[in-house]
Amino acid sequence: MTKRIALVTGGMGGIGTAICKTLAEAGHTVITTYSKSGREKGWLADMKGLGFNDIHCYQCDVTDFAACQEMAARITKDIGPISILVNNAGITRDASFKKQTKDDWDAVIRTNLDSVFNMTKPVLDAMIEAGFGRIVNISSINGQKGQFGQTNYSAAKAGMHGFTMALAQEVAKKGVTVNTISPGYIATEMVMAVPEDVRSKIVAQIPVGRLGKPEEIAALVGFLSSEHAGFITGSNIAMNGGQHMM
Ligand SMILES: NC(=O)c1ccc[n+]([C@@H]2O[C@H](COP(=O)([O-])OP(=O)(O)OC[C@H]3O[C@@H](n4cnc5c(N)ncnc54)[C@H](OP(=O)(O)O)[C@@H]3O)[C@@H](O)[C@H]2O)c1
Repeated sequence: MTKRIALVTGGMGGIGTAICKTLAEAGHTVITTYSKSGREKGWLADMKGLGFNDIHCYQCDVTDFAACQEMAARITKDIGPISILVNNAGITRDASFKKQTKDDWDAVIRTNLDSVFNMTKPVLDAMIEAGFGRIVNISSINGQKGQFGQTNYSAAKAGMHGFTMALAQEVAKKGVTVNTISPGYIATEMVMAVPEDVRSKIVAQIPVGRLGKPEEIAALVGFLSSEHAGFITGSNIAMNGGQHMM
């Protein structure tokens, strides 16, 4: 295994934390972003308590292109060139289209989709130059099937995979792969906070009969980021317990 530098956006969240741990366990130097300061010290202390001493964090709003460029430059100077990028930061602002505001639309498109451009742009040249790169975009089942109340989120998440397919073709010969993972319902704090009766209804729609685990998404990120996954590019891999089959 070659030790590499991995950047995970939104890596202090439910799925992001599992991704950071998996990439660190694989021996990589891991960097994550946070947008709201305050929790980074506690999160880093938790990681160190678990024995992850080569995890670092940088404050960056992924909706801000200049901030992403500046952070990528700082990481390259402080630590080295990034060769694994996991575009994981995301938000929802759910409302039926009738009630959806322009602000809800903009916030979701900027955080889930513009962020993929903002973060990929400043790191891609170094990947091409090195002849190795892995970009993994964390989309959603709702980008594949659509979801009532999520025109903004479904559009952003579907857009992420359009980006994946187009960029994958442009960089395939350069040793850089670009893939999408589309998780179904994962047992993160946000999903576990949903009332028990609502959660049971969700689980009833999942053929495997349970929610997914953040570690399961992270394991696939780990594989897609490895040397072994060089022949997988432009893919959209569903991890949804059979809830939506394409
Ligand atoms: N949980 C699920 O069931 C599920 C299912 C399908 C897809 N997904 C996708 O998986 C990804 C991770 O979801 P999660 O459940 O782990 O969510 P989460 O716990 O809410 O984490 C989201 C992360 O995104 C970061 N973030 C949000 N806005 C940002 C911004 N402007 N700049 C930088 N970072 C920002 C947050 O950091 P701050 O708090 O510091 O802003 C947070 O760490 C998302 O893209 C989500 O759409 C989740």
